[in-house]
Amino acid sequence: TIEKIYEDVEGFAGRPVTVAGWVRSVRDMKNFGFVTLNDGSCFKDLQAVMNRDAVENYDEVAGVGVGSSLVIEGVVEATPDRPQPFELKAERIVVEGPAAPDYPMQKKRATREFLRTQQHLRSRTNLFRAVFRVRSVAAFAIHQFFQERGFVYVTTPIITTSDAEGAGEMFRVTTLDVENPPRLEDGSVDWAQDFFGHAASLTVSGQLQAENFAMSFGDVYTFGPTFRAENSNTRRHAAEFWMVEPEMAFCDLDGDMDVAEAMLKVVIRQVMDRCPDEMEMFNKFVDKGLVERLEHVASSEFARVTYTEAIEILEKAQADGHAFEYPVSWGIDLQTEHERYLTEEHFKRPTFVTDYPAQIKAFYMRLNDDGRTVAACDCLVPGIGEIIGGSQREERLELLEERIEALGMDKEQYKYYLDLRRYGTCEHAGFGLGFERLVMYLTGIDNIRDVLPHPRTVGNAEF
Ligand code: 4AD
Ligand code: MG
Repeated sequence: TIEKIYEDVEGFAGRPVTVAGWVRSVRDMKNFGFVTLNDGSCFKDLQAVMNRDAVENYDEVAGVGVGSSLVIEGVVEATPDRPQPFELKAERIVVEGPAAPDYPMQKKRATREFLRTQQHLRSRTNLFRAVFRVRSVAAFAIHQFFQERGFVYVTTPIITTSDAEGAGEMFRVTTLDVENPPRLEDGSVDWAQDFFGHAASLTVSGQLQAENFAMSFGDVYTFGPTFRAENSNTRRHAAEFWMVEPEMAFCDLDGDMDVAEAMLKVVIRQVMDRCPDEMEMFNKFVDKGLVERLEHVASSEFARVTYTEAIEILEKAQADGHAFEYPVSWGIDLQTEHERYLTEEHFKRPTFVTDYPAQIKAFYMRLNDDGRTVAACDCLVPGIGEIIGGSQREERLELLEERIEALGMDKEQYKYYLDLRRYGTCEHAGFGLGFERLVMYLTGIDNIRDVLPHPRTVGNAEF
């Protein structure tokens, strides 16, 4: 691959190689020409020189368009005096698949909006090749982080009956004839006749099942797709996104935040180490200062503040004339503008906000001794806002039952979850990292649609 040659130009110099990839540009100078090729193995392109004398089908190659696939045989020539460290002197070139003249990726600087309409081709651009490589490297770093610390990887079901967040944002899964479903006498849909014998949905979080496994393995994590039918058309919400959810037995909220902070730092370091070319490109063309900022984040402590303190900070800013669209007072759910003020203007680094009011958080969070806040922690980062949501879980059966009842939730749906509190319950905690939001943070890309290979958002699930 092209990467292998870049890694050892001296070793390859003078030796014959075969590379296969897609054309980035062709320049025909009559008696010789240049082809730049990318095979996806690394960020950099390869430049091949072809002489009319040496390459039999010179005119065919000189005429192919950007995007065509070629196999080039030739000899590596080190070019230490030039910007690129080597060239490939082509001897034989096979045009595997020419790109039709209407190849939509011709333009050097297509807008990201336009590229979103080219999901099948945009990963051939520098920008998207860089984004999706970072995505892959970050995913591996996450697995490595947890595996090295003895966490067991569990996959949790995608089809489920439990609404893990109790927020009613689930996509229904059904094989019933939706136009004319079987109905009960009272006119409601007879879900008993559906595929599973009851209604089922796509999971919004693997947490509840991860908790089961934490009660046998101690430390576990999930990493999988999750789905939310949230009607929020923003640049940080997708209907299908990936979540990383560790769950730890005998762990409290502080331990939870320690793991989250260590994980983010390890992933940042890994990506900077393994993707220097990609990071340099983001730093130059997407978000100036990105690399310096991430270096700083990886080597300094995150801020930790309670919700109540955060509200005081925001109220003070408000009193000092900072105009929030959504007014601040104790009890409100923090909006993106508030999250960004805290992390960008006030703390100027990643910030954990803890101990939110119980009434704005999920049912499973552990009630604090004050009786009105829960042991929750959200991690907010500059440029994005919430990237992680976590908590210590309510391990006390009576309190959990009370909460489920008070919220009018269906207790039957959570019977297994409640059982865990009856058979060897213990202090435990976990969190969920929105993987796309992490990739946005790592790349400086400001729209979730541009870090998902095939984004699914309100009004769009094409291809
Ligand atoms: O804060 P959330 O809703 O927390 C949970 O689902 C918990 N069950 C996690 C846990 O404790 N195991 O979601 C966790 C994270 C958010 O912080 C955010 O980064 C991301 O998931 N997220 C989304 N990312 C993209 N699109 C959406 N619609 C998202 N909703 C949440
Ligand atoms: Mg949240």
